[in-house]
Amino acid sequence: MGVEDGRSCGGGARKIRGDFAARDRLLDRAFEGPAGIAREFPQLTDPDNADRVWIIEEAGATLAHAAWTPALLRCADRRIAAAGIGLVATDPACRGRGLAARVVSRCIEQAAEEGAEVAFLFGEARALYTRLGFVRAGRERVVRLDPDPDAADKRVRVGRVDDAARLLPLLDAHPVGVERDVARFTRVLRIPDTHLYTLEDATGPRAYCVEGKGRDLRGVVHEWGGDPASVSALLRGVAAGLTAPLWVLGPEGLPAAVDGEQALGAVALLRILRPDRLGASDPRELFGDERRPARIPFYVWGLDSV
Ligand SMILES: CC(C)(COP(=O)(O)OP(=O)(O)OC[C@H]1O[C@@H](n2cnc3c(N)ncnc32)[C@H](O)[C@@H]1OP(=O)(O)O)[C@@H](O)C(=O)NCCC(=O)NCCS
Repeated sequence: MGVEDGRSCGGGARKIRGDFAARDRLLDRAFEGPAGIAREFPQLTDPDNADRVWIIEEAGATLAHAAWTPALLRCADRRIAAAGIGLVATDPACRGRGLAARVVSRCIEQAAEEGAEVAFLFGEARALYTRLGFVRAGRERVVRLDPDPDAADKRVRVGRVDDAARLLPLLDAHPVGVERDVARFTRVLRIPDTHLYTLEDATGPRAYCVEGKGRDLRGVVHEWGGDPASVSALLRGVAAGLTAPLWVLGPEGLPAAVDGEQALGAVALLRILRPDRLGASDPRELFGDERRPARIPFYVWGLDSV
C-alpha cells in the first residue's frame, strides 16, 4: 500500500483515534520479522498510551507512526523527566519524504509540553534522527560470559510474571534506571519471548535477570538486580545451560556482575529538550559516551527500552 496504489503519502500528523488495527498492520509492514510487533512494546501501544501515539493516515491506511511514553530517570540522587520514543515506522512505499521526521517531531513537541527534559530512542544513528538533534550518548558495559557447565546452580529458577512485586526492590536498589512500579514491571515481563530467571534462598529472591525481549536481545541479559555475588552466581548458572556465550548488558559503574571480556558502548540516542534545566544542550556533555565520562549517570534497563 502506498504511492503505487494511488496514495500521495501526504497529510499531516495526528493522534491515533482508535484505529489500532490499521496501526498494527503498518508496524508489521514496516518492521521485518514475525507479525505482532505491537505486542513487544506495550508501554507504547497499550490503549492507555493512545494520547501519545502519532500517525499519518490516508484513506483508512496508516502510513507513518511514532509513539512516546514518559519515563522518570533515576540518575543517582537526581530525577530527570524523560520521554522514550519508539516504533518509528513508515510504509515502505512512502519512505524518504519526511513522514517519520514529522511524527517523531510531534512526539518531541508533546513530550516537551508535558515536561520532559530529555528524549531517548533506540536505533541506528541515521540522518533521520541526527537531523532532529539526537546523538548517541550514555555509557553501557557489555560483558561476554562463556558457558561453564561447572557453574550450574540449583538455586536458579525460571521466574514468572507475578514475581514482579518480589523483584521490584532488587531493581529499585540500582542507583540508575527508569522508575518502575509493579504494574509497569508486570506489563513489560509479559512481552513475548522475555525470559526471567531468579536465584532464591530461604529468605526470598537474592537476584534476578532477564534475557530476550520480543525479537530483540536474544542471548543477551539486558536487566539484572541483586547483591553482586548472587547476580554473578545467577548469570553463571544461566550461561551454564547454553552452548553459545551469554552477553550481559549493564550500566557502567555498578559492581561488575561477572568477569569476562568487556566493552563500553553508548546507551541510546538522546536529545536534550530542556538545556536550561539540565545545564547543557549536548547529551554527551552530561551523560558521556563510549569515550567521554559521564557527569550524570544515565541508564535504561532493557525492559524499559522502547
Ligand atoms: C526508518 C524509517 C522510519 C524512516 O522513515 P521515512 O519516512 O522514510 O523517514 P524520513 O523520510 O523522515 O527520513 C528518511 C531519510 O530522508 C532524509 N530526509 C528527510 N527529509 C529530508 C530533507 N528535507 N532533506 C534532506 N534529507 C531529508 C532523512 O534525513 C532520512 O535519512 P536516513 O534515511 O539516512 O535516516 C523507515 O525507513 C522505516 O519504517 N524503517 C523500518 C522500521 C525501522 O527500522 N524503524 C526505525 C526504528 S528506530
